[in-house]
Amino acid sequence: MRLTPGAGSDIDLGRVDLFDLDLYTSGDPHPIWDVMRAKAPLHHQVLPDGREFWSVTRYDDVCRVLGDYQTFSSERGTVVTHLGVDDVAAGKLLTSTDPPRHTQVRRAIGAKLTARAVASWQDRIRRAIVRFLEPALDGGTFDLAERAHRLPMIVAGPLLGIPERDWDELVQLTAMVTAPSDPHFQHGSEAATLAISHHELVTYVAEWVKRRRSAGREDGSLLDHLMSVRAGDMPLTDEEIALDGYSLLLGANVTTPHTVSGTVLALIERPEQFAKAQADPSLVPNLVEEGLRWTSAACNFMRYAVSETRIGGGTVPAGGAVVAWIGSANRDESQFTDPHTFDVMRSGANRHLAFGFGPHYCIGGPLARMTLRIFFEELLQRFASIHLDGESQHLRSYFIAGMTHLPIVVEKRRTP
Ligand code: HEM
Repeated sequence: MRLTPGAGSDIDLGRVDLFDLDLYTSGDPHPIWDVMRAKAPLHHQVLPDGREFWSVTRYDDVCRVLGDYQTFSSERGTVVTHLGVDDVAAGKLLTSTDPPRHTQVRRAIGAKLTARAVASWQDRIRRAIVRFLEPALDGGTFDLAERAHRLPMIVAGPLLGIPERDWDELVQLTAMVTAPSDPHFQHGSEAATLAISHHELVTYVAEWVKRRRSAGREDGSLLDHLMSVRAGDMPLTDEEIALDGYSLLLGANVTTPHTVSGTVLALIERPEQFAKAQADPSLVPNLVEEGLRWTSAACNFMRYAVSETRIGGGTVPAGGAVVAWIGSANRDESQFTDPHTFDVMRSGANRHLAFGFGPHYCIGGPLARMTLRIFFEELLQRFASIHLDGESQHLRSYFIAGMTHLPIVVEKRRTP
């Protein structure tokens, strides 16, 4: 998705199609969201097949939809690619469960993913990132977006307890779930791609649990943790473990790589921002937060209205699907000064919603933040400059804002 908006003229909101995949590959959604925030903060769209959804694009409305679970439920599904198809895993999959059950399960899983818990993985993650960056220093073309797809598995694979031989397959399957229409990942129709990948991922974790149980040993990994935690005084069922393992894999794999690529592209396009971050390494945490806001890799999440509800100056009927556009909220001028400016020195709290808001706030946030911080610390130490070396290509998805190709050439820094 284009992250630096163009001029955006003559936008007719009555004709806007937010499910048009071309909008995210060759089009320019930001000027459309700008107009929606200003003129139609609650926007209604009916798809040619009759499915319909309501969109909220303002910061406060996005917070309300993601945060107020009593009015906007997660239990029928939260991913727009499944619009209109009720989630069969409702109440069992963390992401598709409302409190109070959600709170119990989340507390149990989250204990292993707090900032303090993930800090112990820091050195291992740094070594993995240094190895990842090394080939870029050879002077040849390095396709950062293509290679970055593997980055979360390099970082999180050992933490989850997944053997290296399975990483490539899992990277491919998680990409199929989130971008079933992208030619890099599509297998047959969009529906077939979704069905195959979802089934294979859940089966993978289920088989893993079975093998682990029969082997009777543990290695302290995150998946082992799922097998031993108690939620509300009961262990998780094998089905819950398989589904939550699936969520963790998905959450880890499909977002961090695009935050990396989108932030690096922003730095290539703005050498002065690159120079500022390089001159002052204490700016790296700011760079990470600005990169998260700027890229908003999880572009939206969905909820269903429990009853007829007023929001954004309009009304959503009971049962209506509401899409909360995080990508738009993170450019809301009421929250961010010059929202379309990428600024590593952005002053004040950068209260972006890249990790969501409310009970489902990203459970992997501390791990993602630490990974991104280490990534940019190492990159800035090693790269004197970065240049584009060909066309970048955007992911064909209205759910994940990302890139499939970002060919770069890097100049080595003399004193790393
Ligand atoms: C830059 C990286 C990441 C971004 C932008 C991101 C974004 C998000 C967002 C927006 C949500 C909220 C979903 C909702 O409201 O329905 C979420 C939830 C979640 N994320 Fe992440 N995520 C990232 C990294 C990770 C990582 C590394 C993991 C795994 C370790 C992960 C696992 C999850 C899970 C399991 C949930 C569901 C939490 C719940 O339902 O309580 N994410 N993520």
